[in-house]
Amino acid sequence: MEADLVIRRARLLTLAPLKDERPRVGAAAGDVGAVDDGWVASRDGVIVATGRADGWERLERTESARVVDAGGAVVMPGFVDAHTHLCYAGHRWDEFAARRSGAEYLAVLERGGGIHATVRATREASDATLLMLLRFRLAVAAALGTTTIEVKSGYGLEPAEELRHLRLIARAKADAMIDVAPTYLAMHALPTQYADDRKAFVHEVTKTVATVAAEGLAEAVDAFVEQGVFDTTEARPMAKAARDAGLALTLHADQLNDVGATEFAARMKARSADHVAHASADGLRALARAGIPAVLLPGSAFFVGYAPPDARRFVAADVPVAVATDHNPGTSPLVGMPAAVALGVTLCGLTPHQAIVGATINAAHALGRGERTGALVKGRRSDIVILRTDDENELAYSLGAPLVREVYAAGQLVPAVV
Ligand code: NIG
Ligand code: FE
Repeated sequence: MEADLVIRRARLLTLAPLKDERPRVGAAAGDVGAVDDGWVASRDGVIVATGRADGWERLERTESARVVDAGGAVVMPGFVDAHTHLCYAGHRWDEFAARRSGAEYLAVLERGGGIHATVRATREASDATLLMLLRFRLAVAAALGTTTIEVKSGYGLEPAEELRHLRLIARAKADAMIDVAPTYLAMHALPTQYADDRKAFVHEVTKTVATVAAEGLAEAVDAFVEQGVFDTTEARPMAKAARDAGLALTLHADQLNDVGATEFAARMKARSADHVAHASADGLRALARAGIPAVLLPGSAFFVGYAPPDARRFVAADVPVAVATDHNPGTSPLVGMPAAVALGVTLCGLTPHQAIVGATINAAHALGRGERTGALVKGRRSDIVILRTDDENELAYSLGAPLVREVYAAGQLVPAVV
């Protein structure tokens, strides 16, 4: 067994599965599997061994093998950002400022702004522009430690425009260094021309799910289930079409109001239920029973100013918790997973270790990749981050500090973005 990459003298956070490969709850929700003076070795993008102290010296190495001395710094799995909306053009800082003067997020949307404003800007952007923006955002995410990322469409609304975005996401995925999990956010807002015929829109997107699946354009479908946006009855045909087509389901569930979307996600066996800031106790019980991760998105609570999801409720109810950026121009301009981890701790009430579990192995489960990445264990992708600190608690503490020293995605060193 020859290694082509060895990272040694590390405070290694292995996130190694304890007894099974399920998302972590209970005491395991805060277990990062730390090994002091640890090492990790990989070959052709796959981890071949981990260990302690000098054991790495017994490994055979390829001629050009890279041996990195971490000098006692934290070495952990690459971050998994399980919820982003990277495919958009334009900005919304005007809306952000208006909200600071009292405008309500859902009222702005209702008046044809908000998501609709980004839809207009994105529709006007050429393929080349959108692709450039996507590639740039993926490169920035990677430089900040993300090695697996979900990317949603959702700013096309009409099926033809959504398909254009999904095809661009597929092109960006094809040459990205990091692993991209595309999602068809089929029901983000009602296009204005369907204002008098909501059913026709539901019918259109439900049909489009089959096309998306046939072209291999997405792994999952998503809907914004919210007061005044879409209800669970409207989301059901899309969710069923996804199941029939072999696609997973994920939902923007109970973000601003409890509309029963979390229970609905559990009933439909969703891959994850996201936001869930207003999920009911029944909703939490349903997720726990089904073992479905809740993806907490503190960035949107922070920038919009609503009460963030209370992570302690989820942990106490044995719901697996993940944390993600929700990067989008409307509610969460947050860039990079270290910031999401920090806010998951300070706003949502996770412990630093729970936030790290939520940004790695539990997030990998939320993307159906719980056996492929998210842990430094033999056989997994060599997705590794070296921090500029010997104490992982600093991730939650030094908000905004450049704590990511080196990133390896499938064993390849990710270039810094300057
Ligand atoms: O995750 N709330 C729905 N979707 C996005 C925001 C979309 C937007 O405002 O552009 C979210 O918060
Ligand atoms: Fe979102």
